[in-house]
Amino acid sequence: MAELNARDTKLVQYLNEALTKEKQLETALEAHISMTTLAPYRKRLQEHLRETKRHAREVERRIKKIGGQTNGMGGVVHDATGIVQDVAAKGAALAQGPMHAVRGTSEQEVLLKNARTEFKEEAEEIGTYTMIANLAQKVGDRDTAKLAKAILREEKRMAGFLEKLIPRLTSAVAQAEIPARERNGGRRRTTTRKPASTTRKRSTTSSRSGGSRASGTTRSTSRSGGSRSTARKTTRSSASGSSSRASKGRTTARRKTARRTTARASR
Ligand SMILES: [Fe+2]
Repeated sequence: MAELNARDTKLVQYLNEALTKEKQLETALEAHISMTTLAPYRKRLQEHLRETKRHAREVERRIKKIGGQTNGMGGVVHDATGIVQDVAAKGAALAQGPMHAVRGTSEQEVLLKNARTEFKEEAEEIGTYTMIANLAQKVGDRDTAKLAKAILREEKRMAGFLEKLIPRLTSAVAQAEIPARERNGGRRRTTTRKPASTTRKRSTTSSRSGGSRASGTTRSTSRSGGSRSTARKTTRSSASGSSSRASKGRTTARRKTARRTTARASR
């Protein structure tokens, strides 16, 4: 076989890198499909497996067309074995059920971690085919550029699918592993500061409602319907009343709200 020039040697080198990854992902995708119960996800994985096998065939054909040789698959087998072992370990954890769910290895988490791995692999493929498309364009190899761009579109579509899937799988993990009372319905975590700020806001209203009266009168006017402890609020309102009057930092909107509240309370 004739020796390749520098241009074709570089193209063959990059195409072989892409081929290695495609072969590796065939194994990983097959393993992930076997453990995926979620129908739309499983279907998409099967579709991408078919694409992956086609990519490998197309890249291999292109390498030969340029006059190069495909890499031996020694490295691939080694990498792929690593993935399979990882997947097998997750499968074993899955079989042990509730005990491992407590440790964060629920079925949902296995799916989530698989999706994260697939997303990482797609990102690498996107990088590789972007590299190949640009090199081929630079050296005037239109066929290689065209092939790389076509594959690139499919890799990006898979990455996009995974990007949307990962938040959904994360929600499923939260649902499966975290008790409802700790999930808090997606609201912000409650802190000890929050009630304090709420009280202060109300006390501002109270202080304004009283006008020039003493703080004791303020309490009876504005908090007539309140069920909370009034003694503490009265103290706060008398303390914060003067500071709020002195402060120029209060917004007009808040003052209007305070006036409205006062009007309602005194009715
Ligand atoms: Fe891919």
